[in-house]
Amino acid sequence: MTSLQTAASANPGAAAKISGSEPRIRVKGLGKHYGSLEVFRNIDFDVGEREIVAIVGPSGCGKTTLLRCIDGLIAFDSGEVLVGTERVTEPIAGVAMVFQHFGLFPWKTVYENVAYGLRMAGAPKAEIDRRVPEFIKLVGLAGFEHAYPYQMSGGMQQRCGLARALAVGPNVLLMDEPFAAVDAQTREILQFELLRIWEERPTAMIFVTHSIEEAVLLGHRVIVLKGRPSGIHEIVDIDLPHPRTRDTLREPRFAELRERVWSTLMREAREAEFVLER
Ligand SMILES: Nc1ncnc2c1ncn2[C@@H]1O[C@H](COP(=O)(O)OP(=O)(O)O)[C@@H](O)[C@H]1O
Ligand SMILES: [Mg+2]
Repeated sequence: MTSLQTAASANPGAAAKISGSEPRIRVKGLGKHYGSLEVFRNIDFDVGEREIVAIVGPSGCGKTTLLRCIDGLIAFDSGEVLVGTERVTEPIAGVAMVFQHFGLFPWKTVYENVAYGLRMAGAPKAEIDRRVPEFIKLVGLAGFEHAYPYQMSGGMQQRCGLARALAVGPNVLLMDEPFAAVDAQTREILQFELLRIWEERPTAMIFVTHSIEEAVLLGHRVIVLKGRPSGIHEIVDIDLPHPRTRDTLREPRFAELRERVWSTLMREAREAEFVLER
């Protein structure tokens, strides 16, 4: 058996121990339909308290739907989601989402966008005044407190989206293709910024992407979703050292793992291409 084969775990739950922490998120037997469309079934995985789990899968396989179920924004049909000991039936405190299209209020400044979650959570003014500048600085937006989203590049808008999510002090971060709408150079900068911020403030994180490279760079494990309805095809342990840097991208092990995920996904994509619609 090659080391790559060992790395791919047939038992999703077992791999959570690698991060050396208790599961913060537990997804058990999750299934979801939209009317007659069955999006996914039997989704089972855990995410450790200090673990980044990346999810890759083709467009339309239900990645966004899965995140929304975990966030409590939409109902699912079967299974359950636990965050800590709490069963998710509606949005719960301590879980924050970062969206692909930034999800900022266009009529609010950076400051007001970042303050929004804290205000909703009923934080006192003194706390807002203290935390908002701290998180604006953390994501590298100091000096842009009074800018509006339309005045900023996509990368800056996503930094703002990240600051807003982090400001509430989440212990779970759900990221839905957060860097998909920015150019390639900015994307790379943001990936390393995210890793830096995560090292400073580790949380349980689910990072959805359709970039295999991004999944392998960021994830402690990579979940490959496949099929119709989709299910977990494989969970690959990414045994690259931390902290990950630009040097990581040049390691032979990085290329090996990327190829591993790539071949799994491409096999699926080829099969999907030749399915007849009924
Ligand atoms: N609100 C909805 N109502 C009906 N179908 C939906 C809805 N949202 C998504 N879908 C469908 O469910 C499937 C999964 O969508 P989505 O979760 O957005 O996939 P992904 O994020 O992986 O691209 C797609 O076929 C999509 O068209
Ligand atoms: Mg999506």
